Amino acid sequence: MIPISTTQETVGSLLRDLQNGHAATVPDTWILQNEGDTSEAFESKKLRETASECGLNIKTHSVDDFQLVSNHQNSLFLCGKRVAPPAIVLARTGAETSPLGFSVLHHLESLGSRVVNSTASIADSRCKFRSAQMLSAAGLPIPTTISLREKVDPQFIARQLGTPLVVKYAASTRGEGVAICRNANALEEMLQMIANMGQRPPMIAQQYVAESCGRDLRVIVIGGKVIGCMERQSQTNTWKANISLGGRLSLYGNVTPEIERLAVDAAQVLGLEIAGVDLLFGGEGPILCEVNSAPDFEGVHEASAGSVDVASSIVSYCGDILSKLQ
Ligand SMILES: Nc1ncnc2c1ncn2[C@@H]1O[C@H](COP(=O)(O)OP(=O)(O)O)[C@@H](O)[C@H]1O
Ligand SMILES: [Mg+2]
Repeated sequence: MIPISTTQETVGSLLRDLQNGHAATVPDTWILQNEGDTSEAFESKKLRETASECGLNIKTHSVDDFQLVSNHQNSLFLCGKRVAPPAIVLARTGAETSPLGFSVLHHLESLGSRVVNSTASIADSRCKFRSAQMLSAAGLPIPTTISLREKVDPQFIARQLGTPLVVKYAASTRGEGVAICRNANALEEMLQMIANMGQRPPMIAQQYVAESCGRDLRVIVIGGKVIGCMERQSQTNTWKANISLGGRLSLYGNVTPEIERLAVDAAQVLGLEIAGVDLLFGGEGPILCEVNSAPDFEGVHEASAGSVDVASSIVSYCGDILSKLQ
């Protein structure tokens, strides 16, 4: 793992360079959050504070603060007032990015903002089947995964995956849309129930990695480098390790080159410059579970006593981007 650079120094020298290059002002950076996020999340607040301390011009906006206009060219309005697009947009919308969110991100990209992560990479990583396709096409280890978009025979699924097996909403977050089927009958019942739901969201079935029951790893990758690795361990009887379901987070001390390589490769395959890569403990080594485009880091900050400083790493990364834009 790389040591965390002294962000203030790095970004500070960038700003000096900008002044020496007679740049009139430091270009703007925006943090973009989902509509309905009325209070600023820990992550956005920490990013904003860290960036401001380093002299960056940074503001947080919600996707529903904007009006998007397209005629012979695209233009952007913020609460009714025309605004110039910022140099960088840090998209914190993640798996919960709405159609409105995607529209705003596309608009900002078309206006020349450097959207981090890119709109395409957010869309790909937010769909568990799309990301499974991309990761497996790149030869990376994932649990065998079957799309349930089309009607699939439960016996076929059980034969392909064995039992128990896992069923997930393709855009599940916080473990809320993830369930286990202990045998083929349970799967049949679940698929029957889903079929009766009418308009159902895209879903997947997935091989269950029993060795990883109740625990997994969250590896934070920024700009192609691993900046921290945490273990999540369920404290209740659940097989899911999500923090939102009561999982406990601790610094993981056994980061092997294999773990690092896999996390970096997964982020790269999905085109994510900022990624929370979740790995399962497979019998023969780590296996990819999912890759998040807007990883939370409040828990990481607390559990690592600040030693995994995600906000500083992201701000440093923004500094790198700004210096390349000059
Ligand atoms: N195939 C699997 N085998 C074993 N455990 C799994 C598997 N998939 C998910 N899990 C467990 O369930 C949790 C939630 O699954 P995940 O796919 O990350 O959904 P979400 O995006 O809702 O968090 C994971 O953190 C992991 O602990
Ligand atoms: Mg997850």
